[in-house]
Amino acid sequence: MKGIILAGGRGTRLYPITLCVSKQLLPVHDKPMIYYPLSVLMLAGISDILIISTPQDLGAFRALLGDGGRLGLKLTYAIQQEPRGIADAFLVGAEHIGSDDVALVLGDNIFHGPGFGEVLDQSVADLDGCVLFGYRVPDPERYGVAEADDRDRILSLEEKPARPRSNIAVTGLYLYDNDVVEVARSIRPSPRGELEITDVNKVYVEQDRAGLVDLGRGFTWLDTGTHNSLTDASHYMQLMEQRQGIRVACIEEVALRMGFIDADACYRLGEELASSGYGRYVMDISSSVPLLRAAN
Ligand code: DAU
Repeated sequence: MKGIILAGGRGTRLYPITLCVSKQLLPVHDKPMIYYPLSVLMLAGISDILIISTPQDLGAFRALLGDGGRLGLKLTYAIQQEPRGIADAFLVGAEHIGSDDVALVLGDNIFHGPGFGEVLDQSVADLDGCVLFGYRVPDPERYGVAEADDRDRILSLEEKPARPRSNIAVTGLYLYDNDVVEVARSIRPSPRGELEITDVNKVYVEQDRAGLVDLGRGFTWLDTGTHNSLTDASHYMQLMEQRQGIRVACIEEVALRMGFIDADACYRLGEELASSGYGRYVMDISSSVPLLRAAN
């Protein structure tokens, strides 16, 4: 399975912070925001990943992550000239996807919860059409909303409905079979001028090939779209990490756990960052982290 991180857009709701810095490079506590969605794809066993961003910002992502070789990844980059919608990722990324299945994650989505690796594993294994990940929220009108029956079969999907039929938000992580490229080519821009991911997902729902995974209680899905939610996300990570002595979305650790790199390589990556607590953590865990599973 290939991966795509969509990390463009204008970030206008975070102005003036994002006037000259990409939203997805802003810090969430101790690391750049993109580390969180990147670690999600890695946890799903995906190592061949395309990062899509704006003409102004793409160079900064490349400077941060390079070709990914140091993490045992293959990272490539593509420009989205204009924010034409989330589903545009499949048109920009068509060549990268080739004849494979694909996981798309939005560069500003943060997922954290116990057993997420297993949930991802199972979802990738069960993929038949598309898999969406639902999360119950108090303000569903801000998101794509899924209505599901008691067997998690999706009955309807709506993008930011004024009167939501459920409180299940569709999060910014999506798994698709290879048909998604053709589906994205077949949809038309919405009234707001965007190729909507919800319109792509509706095609799969109509074909009865859309699964919904309820991320459930105990799981955290964080929004970073406003000044307050961005600060809240940092506080959440600070608290989790201090209290539990772990680091969430430490890409070097995930690479080691997933068998993308070995302990020596992990230690060396930490050494380069040794003047920060993050770097010292990477050095510390390099000899003690159990391997989760071999990469796909
Ligand atoms: O976060 C989950 C939600 O993401 C879903 O529930 C919605 O169904 C989905 O439409 C999307 O809603 P948002 O209102 O959050 O989408 P937004 O336009 O803010 O874009 C999400 C991220 O994708 C943001 O970091 C910018 C990036 N983006 C967006 C567009 C439209 C791009 O890189 N290019 C684009 O063309």
